[in-house]
Amino acid sequence: MNDISVQAMRRLSAAGGVEMPAMDLSKPLSEPEKQLVRDAFLEHHILVFRNQKLSKEAQAAFTEQFGELEDHVVRQHDGSKTPQVHTVSNLDADGKPSYKPLTHGNYFWHTDKSYHAKPSLATLLHAIELPTEGGNTQFANTGLAYEALPEERKQAFADLKVVHSWEANRRNTKNKPATEEEKRERPPVTHPLIRTHPETGKKVLYVGIHTSHIVGKSMEESRELLDELADFCAQDEFVYSHEWQPGDLVMWDNRTTMHRAIANYSMNAERRILHRTVIKGDDIPH
Ligand code: OGA
Ligand code: MN
Repeated sequence: MNDISVQAMRRLSAAGGVEMPAMDLSKPLSEPEKQLVRDAFLEHHILVFRNQKLSKEAQAAFTEQFGELEDHVVRQHDGSKTPQVHTVSNLDADGKPSYKPLTHGNYFWHTDKSYHAKPSLATLLHAIELPTEGGNTQFANTGLAYEALPEERKQAFADLKVVHSWEANRRNTKNKPATEEEKRERPPVTHPLIRTHPETGKKVLYVGIHTSHIVGKSMEESRELLDELADFCAQDEFVYSHEWQPGDLVMWDNRTTMHRAIANYSMNAERRILHRTVIKGDDIPH
């Protein structure tokens, strides 16, 4: 590995995030560069690459160097060659910036695809069009949050299981209810409340807007605890808030972070458009 590159990294917050050394992600990375990315990913959880200009194809190719690309629930119908590259935007059905964009689930704390048996390992967002100010993405370090729990709560939570579902996501985000077809395609899944990161072995709180309830507890009691724990993770000391710059590409580890977009911009007047790729994850052992 190249020491100069390591020195060129800049930590972005105590909760995680690092600005990566200058690299051109539109070209295949060398083996040392890939190793640098993998190491930084495990240590800092959120990687910020500045000054990139990637086509959808180039973003897909960059992503595939770190794992298998994942499809999306809402497929693109624009005939693009890389349907795994999704567009995240604040546009409504008429293509206009809006307070009520077509999808707004990204404005709630979540970890990607936790309603899958094999939730997404990593997500990559590349800034295409940004508002003049705001529109941050916030990341909460769920490993730091777990560590900060009192010992008796760690023990009380050790064996709890949580049901996550697409249907719960639609309900919790006050979105259109999931269709019968969507429910069939995405049946509920159960994950441990305390998840162990498969590579670092560290424990994290695994919560967010895709959670339905805790196995063996009522809906009401579950919601109260799950919301409280999500709020606990979202305390300032555990959060890195990313202020987007043109050309940014941000790659994060869903296994130890939650994230959300912030509506701190002129949503109804300015466009916020990002291209998104996702790397498939593995089964979560119970
Ligand atoms: C996502 C997401 C956050 C944002 O793409 O998975 O949650 O800032 N995006 O738009
Ligand atoms: Mn997301």
